[in-house]
Amino acid sequence: MTVALASDHVGLPLKRAILAHLEERGVACRDFGTNSDARCDYPQFALPAAKAVADGEYTCGILCCGTGIGMSIAANKVAGIRCTACSDGYSAALSRAHNNANMLALGSRVVGTGLALQIVDLFLDTPYEGGRHERRLEQICEIERSGGSAAQKGD
Ligand code: RB5
Repeated sequence: MTVALASDHVGLPLKRAILAHLEERGVACRDFGTNSDARCDYPQFALPAAKAVADGEYTCGILCCGTGIGMSIAANKVAGIRCTACSDGYSAALSRAHNNANMLALGSRVVGTGLALQIVDLFLDTPYEGGRHERRLEQICEIERSGGSAAQKGD
């Protein structure tokens, strides 16, 4: 397993804690920045990490900003990315089991470090269930392929 990491200046301390945790777990990571406390724009860092995950260079990605929301919105603009902003372990596990999420976004102003690391572990350790969820993910892919103009079932 390989993980692409990125953050803005607000998410930087949390990203550093996650990086140390993943290294302890023996997970190979690449940090796509920022590595400065200077104020920056989160889409600039979400984009290269999300592209690397979408291109198959990394198994998944973890993004940190103040809320996790801006990072997740930006990452989800990249085709093939299913990024979920989570502040609890249940959602993180279900985002893998049901939604085959390939990126997790965390908010450093929302979750403490201990909870964030639990969420990360649940995200990384929960497999996708497939089955009935596959049809729904295929419908999401169709929305993506059609640029949002996919026909609704029953139309
Ligand atoms: C930066 O102030 C903040 O907006 C950012 O870290 C993030 O929370 C955006 O969603």
